[in-house]
Amino acid sequence: MRGEGQSAGTISTGTGRFAFAAVDRSTSAGNPDWSIRPRWYAVAFHDLPKTGGGRTDLAGFLAAALAVLALASLAIAYHWQRRVEADAKAWELAERLEVDNRALAAVNRELEAFSYSVSHDLRTPLRSIDGFSLALAEDHSDALDPEGRRYLERIRSAAQRMGQLIDDLLGLARVTRSELRLQSVDVSDLANSVISALEPDHAVAWQVQPGLVAEADARLLRIVLENLLGNAAKFTARTKDARVTVGSRWDQDGPVYFVRDNGAGFDMEHAGRLFGAFQRLHAGEDYAGTGVGLATVQRIVNRHGGRIWAEAAPGQGASFFFTLGKTGK
Ligand SMILES: Nc1ncnc2c1ncn2[C@@H]1O[C@H](COP(=O)(O)OP(=O)(O)O)[C@@H](O)[C@H]1O
Ligand SMILES: [Mg+2]
Repeated sequence: MRGEGQSAGTISTGTGRFAFAAVDRSTSAGNPDWSIRPRWYAVAFHDLPKTGGGRTDLAGFLAAALAVLALASLAIAYHWQRRVEADAKAWELAERLEVDNRALAAVNRELEAFSYSVSHDLRTPLRSIDGFSLALAEDHSDALDPEGRRYLERIRSAAQRMGQLIDDLLGLARVTRSELRLQSVDVSDLANSVISALEPDHAVAWQVQPGLVAEADARLLRIVLENLLGNAAKFTARTKDARVTVGSRWDQDGPVYFVRDNGAGFDMEHAGRLFGAFQRLHAGEDYAGTGVGLATVQRIVNRHGGRIWAEAAPGQGASFFFTLGKTGK
């Protein structure tokens, strides 16, 4: 307002002129801060000389303003009411979700503990089966005919396979149970170290992009690379000029690490099953395995707040991509 801070003056509007004068100056005496001191003014309104209907205009204007104000307050009240209701509903839903989540987590923990102890307990009788069939094969094979020896051989290989399954299951459970210890990891170094321990039966041209780094749990990331690189080696066993590449590319959320091979690949139609425990897209006779590896990898990646996915085609190789969530940035 133009008259602010003055003791008297005029303010012109479209319909007329307001004249004002301070009535009592003592309220502001000694205080220069006008904005916080109330001051009384006498105000008079004069029509503009040319506009005869100024007062009527003002009344109309005030009525319209009042109507707009009333409508606006109604709209605000309605909106407010709706918001309060929506807030209450959202709050109730969030609370219910939290309760469900806690119950689910408890059931999950119980299941993990159960499968861990069952797997652990299964190991002892299995060791007996494997040990005694080995003793039978070594010390009493003369007492068996060729068919008997073949059966014994099958018992031993089944026992060993079951042992591998149990170990993999225990590994899967351990991944969820162990504490996440984040540190700066040289992914290229880790990949090279995993590769040197792999020793596949066929020649593989390994290529690891240097300088890959991540903020991750080194022990768990090693398990990820062991599985992805182990798979890449396994599924290139029948490929001429087998090639496996480890690298990273950037998307808007940070680095995406990948392991790419030119091996057997698979039909993307079945890609949804890849990360389920015991799920295999290839026959055991062609490529041995338990189908627990990628389930373990996915759990580790998820624990880091990341995600994993694959692209492949039959006979054209496979690429596995993963992020490590915010820790990878
Ligand atoms: N690099 C790959 N190329 C082709 N298929 C793959 C590859 N990696 C995984 N798969 C498919 O996903 C399945 C699950 O993998 P995984 O859980 O590691 O089990 P496993 O290695 O014991 O078979 C594999 O059996 C295979 O069918
Ligand atoms: Mg595997």
